[in-house]
Amino acid sequence: MPAAKTMKKLTLPGLIDPHVHMREPGATHKEDWDSGTAAALAGGFTAILAMPNTAPPVTSAETLQSTLLLAGGKACCDFGQYLGAGADNTASAPAIAPFSAGLKMYLDQTYGPLRLDDMTDWLTHLQAWPHGIPVCAHCEGKTLAAVILLADLTRRPVHLCHVSRREEILLIRKAKEQGIPVTCEVAPHHLFLSEDDIPAIGSGRSEVRPRLASRRDVQALWDNLDVIDCFASDHAPHTLAEKDSPTPPPGFPGLETSLPLLLTAASEKRLTIEDIILRCYTNPARIFCLPDQPDTRVEVDLDARYEITAAGAYTRCGWTPFEGMPVQGRVTRVTLRGKTAFEDGKVLAQPGSGRNVRPEVTTPPGVTLPD
Ligand code: DOR
Ligand code: ZN
Ligand code: ZN
Repeated sequence: MPAAKTMKKLTLPGLIDPHVHMREPGATHKEDWDSGTAAALAGGFTAILAMPNTAPPVTSAETLQSTLLLAGGKACCDFGQYLGAGADNTASAPAIAPFSAGLKMYLDQTYGPLRLDDMTDWLTHLQAWPHGIPVCAHCEGKTLAAVILLADLTRRPVHLCHVSRREEILLIRKAKEQGIPVTCEVAPHHLFLSEDDIPAIGSGRSEVRPRLASRRDVQALWDNLDVIDCFASDHAPHTLAEKDSPTPPPGFPGLETSLPLLLTAASEKRLTIEDIILRCYTNPARIFCLPDQPDTRVEVDLDARYEITAAGAYTRCGWTPFEGMPVQGRVTRVTLRGKTAFEDGKVLAQPGSGRNVRPEVTTPPGVTLPD
């Protein structure tokens, strides 16, 4: 009888994804708080921070409160909800800040209506938003350079989302060397895909903001890994029908593929397990001021080899740009606060068992909850 193959197990802390799109309210056919947080657990994430470009967008105390109520009733993992920066909420945003995961500033056009064009609105938000509560920016190229300048002028930390280009990562290196308080994240799709993959993925399905970049850009991200504070999926689910339509919305699902891709890179010695823990746990916990999750861990089989497929995934969107990609490393069990939340491919956590990462507060000022 052949000797039973022992699987090489690894235990990680509960991972944190600081950049996901949950689509509830407004587009639950793409994802809701239940399916999205189940996908998070299946991917090894025990806490996620949700972006505000929902329908309606989360830009007020009322929309934040109603979204947090939905999340609290359905989430299977811990969660926070960002507030979107608008031209019309510069005055009201600071009072709502402690209830949110942070402020999200959209400085370029992407999915949804949130976009801040006037740099004086950027400045007002950055000056008024409480220090100690994070600010994130969707910025690309020259808007990234501009917001770095504003972080310097206002001396407040700004987290730069989904950096994808050589010119951006090199500028961030320079800014950090100068002591400008910026941090940044890179999405796995910008590390593992380039514009050369667009023909194979299909043009509609390849739509994402920032766009897939050149191989030189991708190499620059790998060459400057020390500048990258976090890996964040930017899980942005849209259905296959939408992606294959004449007006494909930008965005890739990523919660269930991020860790397998990163573990594969570790198996190939392109990064280390410590690099993953630093960028998917230690740094996001610090940058986003997240509470500890006691008795929480993610068990991984480092030897499991398989191909990524959308079949059987928990995300509702029904596809992945990584379909058929060979990977090594599988999440086998997730324990959240002492309870098995995911095991053998099944999410066991109950909807509603996830907690708000800003637990000290429940109701933003100006909102009266029904009795
Ligand atoms: O591709 C993207 N999709 N980039 C974004 O910035 C937004 C996201 C979405 O919400 O679909
Ligand atoms: Zn973005
Ligand atoms: Zn995003």
